[in-house]
Amino acid sequence: MTSTTSKVLTLIISAFTIMQITLAGDPDILTDFIAPVGATVDGTFFTFTGFRALLPPNTFPSTFKALKATKAEFPALDGQSVSYAALEFPAKSINPPHTHPRSAELLFVASGSLQVGFVDTTNKLFTQTLQTGDIFVFPKGLVHFQFNSDAQKPALALSAFGSANAGTVSIPSTLFNTTIDDNVLALAFKTDVGTIQTLKKGFTS
Ligand SMILES: *[C@@H]1O[C@H](CO)[C@@H](O)[C@H](O)[C@H]1NC(C)=O
Repeated sequence: MTSTTSKVLTLIISAFTIMQITLAGDPDILTDFIAPVGATVDGTFFTFTGFRALLPPNTFPSTFKALKATKAEFPALDGQSVSYAALEFPAKSINPPHTHPRSAELLFVASGSLQVGFVDTTNKLFTQTLQTGDIFVFPKGLVHFQFNSDAQKPALALSAFGSANAGTVSIPSTLFNTTIDDNVLALAFKTDVGTIQTLKKGFTS
């Protein structure tokens, strides 16, 4: 093989590898749907009623609450690469900074308003104040948050995901509610061990 031929081949192979990475999502299934062995498969199997809890006379929770319809709560989603979350924000509540390792998030504000933001891999922050009816997209894997800054009105948002199990990595609890050594965190945050222990205390109560 001439060196030019091998360079071309290498290029083609890397192009395909990059394409594979770009197309990465939940794996495609070879059947119409996946049902647990022995399960009765009828319309009910493809129906999730858990979000009825959002309708009146439901009262808003007193702290931020995420109601999920992922593969875990709704087994028919297995292999379908989609899921939902309903996010309930009482006045002045936040959904702390977090990422979804396996999917972008498409958030629709159903009632109230939300301040949202994400940070890209160059550390640039993108923020927006969303009104009822607005849609915002959080790119896959990037750290993002939502905040209902209104002192009176609650906010309700529906988020769609391109994965049946998008996963959530909460930044505060990943860092301060696991057993990462205090010295490691103190060095990482350029602070002292006492400050790290104070931050960790918030998770023990
Ligand atoms: C901290 O982690 C423990 C153990 O995983 C968990 O039970 C608890 O809910 C977490 N606390 C908070 C505030 O996330």
